[in-house]
Amino acid sequence: MSITIAISNHKGGVGKTTTTVNLGAGLALEGKSVLLIDLDPQANLTQSYGISKPDSTIYEALKGEMGAVPINLNKNLDLIPSTLDLAGAEMELNAEAGREYLLDEIIAPLKEKYDYILIDCPPSLGLLTINAFTTSDEVIIPIQAHFLAIKGLTKIIEVINKVKKRLNKDLEITGVIVTLFDKRKILHRDVVETIITYFQEKVYKSKIRQNIALAEAPMSGTDIFRYEKKSHGATDYLALCKEFIKKH
Ligand SMILES: Nc1ncnc2c1ncn2[C@@H]1O[C@H](COP(=O)(O)OP(=O)(O)O)[C@@H](O)[C@H]1O
Ligand SMILES: [Mg+2]
Repeated sequence: MSITIAISNHKGGVGKTTTTVNLGAGLALEGKSVLLIDLDPQANLTQSYGISKPDSTIYEALKGEMGAVPINLNKNLDLIPSTLDLAGAEMELNAEAGREYLLDEIIAPLKEKYDYILIDCPPSLGLLTINAFTTSDEVIIPIQAHFLAIKGLTKIIEVINKVKKRLNKDLEITGVIVTLFDKRKILHRDVVETIITYFQEKVYKSKIRQNIALAEAPMSGTDIFRYEKKSHGATDYLALCKEFIKKH
C-alpha cells in the first residue's frame, strides 16, 4: 500500500527539505520505493540533488501542460522537481475549479508504483500546501529545537483540521521530528519537553542533531548517506528511517 506524506511547517529553515532528502534516501536504501515531490518554489529539494534545469516540473503538471514525469535519482528513489516558476502558481491556479485537488490528480496514477511519496512543502500555508494536505495520508512536522519552536504551530493545526473536515477526512498528523538539536543545551532539552507535552507519542524518539555534514551534502548534490556515511547526520537519519518503518 502506498502512503503519501506531506513534510510541512510554515516556518522556514526548520529542516523540511533536509528531512525529505534524507528520510527519502534512507527509506530507499532500506529497499522501499520512494517518490519525492518538490512543492516549494524555492526548489531547494531539486537543487539538493544537483538538478538545475529539469525538463519537466511539478509546475507544468499543476498547470495541466504535461503529466508529471519523475526523474530517477538513485535505486528506488525518484523525484518530481520544482522550479522558481512555481512561485506564480498559487495566483495562477486560484481561479481553477477544484484547485485544491490538482496535485492529487497528478499523483493518483503514480501512487501504486511507490511505497512512500514524500512531499516537501513550502514555508507557507497557501494553495500549494493545501494541495499537499488534500492528497496526503499523513503530515510530518519537523520542528527546530528553538525557544519559539511551538509558537505559530496552532496555525498549521488549524489548516490541517479544516482540510480534514472539508477535503480529506483521512488526513492525520502522524509524526513530529525534532531537528537541529543540541542535547548539551538545556534550552533544547526544555523545548523538546514542551514539544512532547504537546504532541506526545507523535514525537519521534530519534532526534536530528545539528551536524554540518547535513548542510554540506546538498552542495555535493547528494544525501547524507552518500556524502558522509559516518556523520552524526547519517546516524540520526538512519535511526529516524528505522523508527519510521517500524511505525508504519
Ligand atoms: N540537522 C542539521 N544540522 C545542520 N544544518 C542543518 C540541519 N538541518 C538542516 N540544516 C541546514 O539548515 C538550513 C535549513 O534547512 P532546510 O532543510 O532547508 O529547512 P526548510 O526546508 O524547513 O526551510 C539548510 O541550510 C540546511 O542545510
Ligand atoms: Mg525547504
